[in-house]
Amino acid sequence: MNNSCIDKGTSKCDEWNKVVDEHKSFSDIVTSFAKKTLSIADFPPSNIQLQEGQDNKIRILDVACGMGEVVLVAQELCCPKKFHFIATDFSEEMIRQVGNCLKKKSINNIETAVMDAANMSTLCSDSFDYVICQFAIDHFYSPQESVNEMTRLLKPNGTCVIATWKYTDVMTLIEQAADLTVGSDWRENSEGIATSHAHRFADESKLIQIANSAGLRNVNVSGVSMKFNVGCLEKSYPVISRNPIADQILSRLDEDGREKFRLNFLKVSQDKIDSNGNLHLEIHTNIMRATKF
Ligand SMILES: C[S@@+](CC[C@H](N)C(=O)[O-])C[C@H]1O[C@@H](n2cnc3c(N)ncnc32)[C@H](O)[C@@H]1O
Repeated sequence: MNNSCIDKGTSKCDEWNKVVDEHKSFSDIVTSFAKKTLSIADFPPSNIQLQEGQDNKIRILDVACGMGEVVLVAQELCCPKKFHFIATDFSEEMIRQVGNCLKKKSINNIETAVMDAANMSTLCSDSFDYVICQFAIDHFYSPQESVNEMTRLLKPNGTCVIATWKYTDVMTLIEQAADLTVGSDWRENSEGIATSHAHRFADESKLIQIANSAGLRNVNVSGVSMKFNVGCLEKSYPVISRNPIADQILSRLDEDGREKFRLNFLKVSQDKIDSNGNLHLEIHTNIMRATKF
């Protein structure tokens, strides 16, 4: 990996370290999606034939695990003696939180590691039965390199599952609020971070292309959508308006501008609020499943 990739990863990782608390509030939503992602992965496998080597266990890698919802749900679904999990993320803060949670729950078959998805060279090639990556590829600075790495790590016949956002109300509201606050110019100056970045794989053919280029085969994409009540809009605003993409926009504004953005966000969200003031959001995703030959 060249140095510019490392620099890019380091600066972006700092942004993720700052939003750990905001991520915690979305844990229930992410857990619901984790169940869908795992069911598309056909995990746990109905027919467990343990393979030789590597502790004789089924090995699962969760790439860019965030707060660890995928790996935690997967761990609950299966017999601890037969499975081994590794959860990685390039954010030390995310990994620290996952570590605390594992300690609290006395779970000892999930290992954690701080690792950039584009460079997981400390993990052995052909060593995982499942590699799962949920809602993270959209944020990778190098999606192709990262999917190449995931493919390298899979055993032959191993399953790769990548969940991406197709359309989310949150991003649309942020974009509309930004348009009202600063005009649409921010899109041109957003260095690919904003709109196109958030829904980078909205077109499933891009996901399929990246999987095929990485050498994955039998690529299938399923659309999965869910609706959530995220509670009182005013209270949830600080959480839902906080992500690296919104931060890019907010960091260019002074205090008055941020307040204007907040008011505009409340305004554009009005038609998603019920009579009790609760905000309802829709999240549409694509979940890709593929095999390594
Ligand atoms: C939206 S969160 C998703 C987390 C979790 N997989 C989930 O389903 O909620 C995106 C995660 O990707 C991680 N991430 C972004 N770029 C990464 C990279 N290049 N390598 C490893 N992790 C990365 C972030 O730190 C963050 O935890």
